[in-house]
Amino acid sequence: MKISVQNKSILDVDADIIIVNLFEGVKTPGGVTGIIDGAYNSVISNFVIKKEKFTGSFGEIYVLPIVEEGKKIFIAGLGKQADFNYKKIRDLTAKIVRTCKTSPSAKKIVSILHGAGVAGLCPGYCAQMIAEGTISGIYTFDKYKSDKKENTIKEFIIAEIDKDKFQKAKKGVEKGIIVAEAVNRARNLINESSQYLYPETLAEYAVQNSGVKTTVYNKEQIKEMGMNAFLAVGQGSVHEPKFIHMKYKPKNAKKKIAIVGKGITFDAGGLDIKPPSSMLTMRDDMSGAAAVISTIRAISELNPDVEVHAIVAACENMPSGSAYKPGDVIIAKTGRSIEIDNTDAEGRVTLADALAYAEELGVDEIIDIATLTGACMVALGTVASGIMTNNNDKMFEFIKISEKTGERFWPLPMYEEYGDSLKSDIADTKNTGGRMGGASTAGIFLSKFIQKTPWLHLDIAGTAFLEKADSEGIKNATGVGVRSLIEYICN
Ligand code: BES
Ligand code: MN
Ligand code: ZN
Repeated sequence: MKISVQNKSILDVDADIIIVNLFEGVKTPGGVTGIIDGAYNSVISNFVIKKEKFTGSFGEIYVLPIVEEGKKIFIAGLGKQADFNYKKIRDLTAKIVRTCKTSPSAKKIVSILHGAGVAGLCPGYCAQMIAEGTISGIYTFDKYKSDKKENTIKEFIIAEIDKDKFQKAKKGVEKGIIVAEAVNRARNLINESSQYLYPETLAEYAVQNSGVKTTVYNKEQIKEMGMNAFLAVGQGSVHEPKFIHMKYKPKNAKKKIAIVGKGITFDAGGLDIKPPSSMLTMRDDMSGAAAVISTIRAISELNPDVEVHAIVAACENMPSGSAYKPGDVIIAKTGRSIEIDNTDAEGRVTLADALAYAEELGVDEIIDIATLTGACMVALGTVASGIMTNNNDKMFEFIKISEKTGERFWPLPMYEEYGDSLKSDIADTKNTGGRMGGASTAGIFLSKFIQKTPWLHLDIAGTAFLEKADSEGIKNATGVGVRSLIEYICN
């Protein structure tokens, strides 16, 4: 499928489907929708709005069939103008594409540049959202389905007659394609069966697909680097752990960032084994890893002047005769000792070493992204990810930038009292402190393994994998975090 922008009137683009839009409550369409209305006997104002009572509520789509030989018009509701935003452009486009992608009479679609008219949004970012929505709309994970439904859309065109908006839209589409493909790559990795996706194959994937210089460390090398905490978590699995370091190094970098993704390719809970219902989707416990691998690939294509290190400590958390045990004491890379209180709180134990490794690189900031706690999911549901930090200014900057992408990160507190329950009789810290305030306790635990570098912790336990389709029509792996990380790094 090709996505392009043409510097033409929408009327002059040859297509099977023309997509126009209407804000809620508009009786006389203006802009490009008005032009289409005029070109087809006022069918939108006199029939669709007046007779059919199309209100323009968000996501409402009216199909006008065969306005001329083989041509349909889709009138898409944008909702209330005051509530309109970039994410809605992406959601709407994804919805339209999802309904058209198996229709043989929808090979060529032309769309208005939603948002760039009366709404007054940035034309480049609006176009980016349309490109993202288009690529997200055709996403399915059908690798293991015998009956695959081919996408029949060949071309999606944005028509924009204004020269300046056209130029901006072209750039936006280029970026949108890169971002959306990164998101889909993350989704594919997360949706993949853990039968095939384990540390070795994840590392191999990173080498082939990260787009940057990638070093993979094996068990012996991990041991030499002193990452005993990470090793302990992986020791119960038949699959060897792998430590993956991907580097994007531009010539004149203005800053250095490390992004660290939790990479538990399957979380059975270890000896503190999970009940079946909780274990079922635990192939998603490498969603953070998928996000950082996909992000750095996009970064390698977008070329910002920021040095980026993407880091993944990949292993499986399994119960077995060789598994780490409750009550074990482990000396982490920083020299801090950890008493294992619960083997199912494994992510933070692997991250303890990965964060310490990241800090040794001398970066200006560290962002970790992890499906870390069920407690975060209880607190925020599937609606927002949690964010914690040792640097509030950076956190609010991240939140502000991520809002534009439509991803939500909500601050959870890092009061030092949340660390009280981590006190151990025999070690410097325990790895868990019970259920109450669990997301914050995990955040405090992680903070102990960073000395001074500004750090953001993104808990995506609730948002990484969905049972019900979201507003973009995405079920199962969402690829959450990729869009915000890219936007933050490129900002
Ligand atoms: N991977 C889980 C967290 C998780 C839960 C992710 C639900 C996605 C959906 C993590 O390793 C875990 O098991 N956390 C425990 C910690 C507890 C033992 C303190 C939890 O949240 O129950
Ligand atoms: Mn766990
Ligand atoms: Zn886990």
